[in-house]
Amino acid sequence: MPYSEDKALKALTAISDPIKPGDIIASGRLASLEMSDGVLQAVLQIPPPDAEAFFPIREAAQLALEGLEGVKTARVVLSAHKSGPQMAGRKRGNPHQPRRPDGVQGDGEVKRIIAISSAKGGVGKSTMAANLAVALARSGLRIGLLDADIHGPSLPMLFGTAGSKARTIAVGQRKIIVPVEAMGVKTMSIGYLTPDDDSPIIWRGPLVQGAISRMLWDVDWGELDLLLIDMPPGTGDAQLGLAQDIKPSGAVIVSTPQDLALLDARKGVAMFRKVDIPVLGLIENMAVFTCPDCGGQHHIFGTGGAKRDAEKLNVEYLGAAPLHMSIRESGDSGVPVASIVGPMSDIFENLANRVTEKSLETPQRE
Ligand SMILES: Nc1ncnc2c1ncn2[C@@H]1O[C@H](COP(=O)(O)OP(=O)(O)OP(=O)(O)O)[C@@H](O)[C@H]1O
Ligand SMILES: [Mg+2]
Repeated sequence: MPYSEDKALKALTAISDPIKPGDIIASGRLASLEMSDGVLQAVLQIPPPDAEAFFPIREAAQLALEGLEGVKTARVVLSAHKSGPQMAGRKRGNPHQPRRPDGVQGDGEVKRIIAISSAKGGVGKSTMAANLAVALARSGLRIGLLDADIHGPSLPMLFGTAGSKARTIAVGQRKIIVPVEAMGVKTMSIGYLTPDDDSPIIWRGPLVQGAISRMLWDVDWGELDLLLIDMPPGTGDAQLGLAQDIKPSGAVIVSTPQDLALLDARKGVAMFRKVDIPVLGLIENMAVFTCPDCGGQHHIFGTGGAKRDAEKLNVEYLGAAPLHMSIRESGDSGVPVASIVGPMSDIFENLANRVTEKSLETPQRE
């Protein structure tokens, strides 16, 4: 029996909308339903704050569609609400658009990849990547975040997803990993793939590259406007190799003011320039400390240096995040501060907007 769109729609009407009355078809969630070579893709449009409520719905819809005749694989994608900003040049559902030669994720398209990097460890790169990802998703973009730190994955802790295991689905001969969704962001980390998060992970050389490639290309990202990569710290051969493998559209360098001894930042910028990856800008983290008792502003790591050094390096200064207790506490508790309305989320929203603007200067991936 061939595939029938009517039957697919009927199957979806059996699923209730968790927010509005009625089923997900009646409530107008279905943005598109496309069948191609046995792969059926449904896009459900939802506002980012409701994303969590829709994760079980996505699963249920996928199961319902997978049971239909003529459907080999069903993909259900949750997409942010249309009211958010749209990326320039977005082409949706264009059957003539070239697919990636490795054929992974079938109909998924990752428009741009942005590496979040730092010359030194511990400057808050992962914290920044997590908060930027959440702020970008809240602005209505479709966002993924890959934790490329195999030795010290921190993403599961930052998103409160420690202990989650990524599902795999079979697509033909391949096994595709389903990313773990949290706060409207599709996240992927080695932490979701190892049997026990506490066990030391001994990955070496080619194994590391293999693991990262798998986490990047064998993942059902679906359509993404931006995929952020939380890079491991440093500017050595491993990082250089990784940058070459991933070929990000651009890189954002995170630094604390004191680390911005020009030498360090220069190393980071030079690394990306060496492999022709544009440096989109520099974000200063832990720039100023506001004393909770006196309210005074303390520039513990110095002032103005980051901006000056960025200028010297001919790199745009994208802004700063303060050294603030809530940033650390929220990271430790698995709820990035960018998801909580307040002055801190405003800061990350502004930084996210700058990253979006700069990313749009890079060409869209094919
Ligand atoms: N702006 C900030 N205010 C307060 N604490 C922060 C801030 N940014 C990061 N931290 C804290 O600093 C510590 C290091 O941050 P994080 O793990 O994000 O750094 P990193 O650069 O990713 O480290 P690594 O190089 O090990 O990957 C964490 O405990 C985090 O909560
Ligand atoms: Mg980190």
